[in-house]
Amino acid sequence: MSRLAVFGAGYVGLVTGACFADLGHEVVVRDVVPLRIEQLRAGEVPIFEPGLEELLQRNAERLTYTLDVAEAVQDADFLYVAVGTPPTYSGDADLTAVWTVVDELSGLDRRAVMVMKSTVPVGTGAKVRHRLDGRGLEHVGYASNPEFTAEGTAVRDFQHPDRIVVGSFDGADGDAVQELHKGIEGPVVRCDVASAEMIKLAANAALMTRISFINEIANVCEATGADVVRVAEGVGLDRRIGPSFLRAGIGYGGSCFPKDSLALKQLAANSGYHFQLLNAVIEVNELQKRRVIGKLQRHLGSLRGKTVALLGIAFKPNTDDIREAPSLVLAGRLVAEGGHVRAWDPIATIDELPGVEQVETAAAAIAGADAVVLVTEWPELADIDWARARSAAGSAQPVFVDGRNMLDPDRMRAAGWVYESIGRPSA
Ligand SMILES: NC(=O)c1ccc[n+]([C@@H]2O[C@H](COP(=O)([O-])OP(=O)(O)OC[C@H]3O[C@@H](n4cnc5c(N)ncnc54)[C@H](O)[C@@H]3O)[C@@H](O)[C@H]2O)c1
Repeated sequence: MSRLAVFGAGYVGLVTGACFADLGHEVVVRDVVPLRIEQLRAGEVPIFEPGLEELLQRNAERLTYTLDVAEAVQDADFLYVAVGTPPTYSGDADLTAVWTVVDELSGLDRRAVMVMKSTVPVGTGAKVRHRLDGRGLEHVGYASNPEFTAEGTAVRDFQHPDRIVVGSFDGADGDAVQELHKGIEGPVVRCDVASAEMIKLAANAALMTRISFINEIANVCEATGADVVRVAEGVGLDRRIGPSFLRAGIGYGGSCFPKDSLALKQLAANSGYHFQLLNAVIEVNELQKRRVIGKLQRHLGSLRGKTVALLGIAFKPNTDDIREAPSLVLAGRLVAEGGHVRAWDPIATIDELPGVEQVETAAAAIAGADAVVLVTEWPELADIDWARARSAAGSAQPVFVDGRNMLDPDRMRAAGWVYESIGRPSA
């Protein structure tokens, strides 16, 4: 069994640490935020990710948490990097945290393999290699092992991956990283570092392209009277196409897709290539979020003084992550139009957004509202008695925009709502 230092106790770092500990490895998770480490040491999990708490508890004897780099890297065979790589103003990935980790290793005098889990631009591995060598760390190997887990199902995704990608400069480093995964079934793709970095960016871009594609199909369905749910079903049954990521909605958000698409766009542009398709995918997504405002205005006229309930804040169900969530764009646009926003989410919180009030229950958000927007398809929304909820809403003809096509149009209309969804025929 190996010893791992994991840099970053966020969504990826904690899942990585917990899953490797579950395979029997010794793991030290290092973060720079004292509260995070205190919480973890006290058995509290600072993020919401299904199954993570149990996994951390079950493997507690193989998991330690520290703020101290020296303690983390002491005796470590692998140095997993799972720090954030947010966008800069230019859209390029901000690699400050990655460089900090590289610089923090300067005293390391034993052999270890640094493994990049964070999503980074193609070419980062080569630059890291150069910097390690420049600091006299030639004995530290380097591999790229990008992460494909999705928040909400990250533990399952890690333990049952579609593939494990390992890119390395030196075959022996790649072998070691591959061996570390022993116990996890799944095809392994071995390649050079640049290709591994590109696999991650290209996979995300492909998924985003499918989302923007079906959203544009939905918009054409709206204009022509077709039903995108049936269309997606019929298209997705084609084995060459497949059904996943063909659900029309109000656009993608989250901590990865928006930033990774910008980073790939900038990476291409910085290399002199105009990535036309990706630009369109990004633009379609931005417009898709805003189309909800148009739907509300069509029924309510001006939104000034109107109360709109937002059901769901998290960028998708089963996570508390609100980074780049469509709810934030919607809330901002509604407030800018003079509306009052009441938002509800079972787990996520919207912090200090002027003009937005967060309430404890969906019923409290709906009570007295002129319109309701279903933003995140939390399963509990399917259990609401929508006829009762409709009588609690503020207007005689309350509008309901189902941004995820989650509810049944006939039943919602029968319950008295002016029900709109995405790419399905209006009443
Ligand atoms: N969130 C996902 O589902 C997901 C999926 C695939 C890939 N990724 C990629 O993985 C990376 C991490 O994403 P995340 O969502 O876990 O980020 P996160 O913001 O949840 O966690 C990053 C953590 O790194 C810590 N950190 C910063 N500098 C550090 C340092 N020098 N040493 C140790 N810790 C440090 C931060 O305090 C934070 O706790 C990103 O590159 C992201 O694009 C994320």
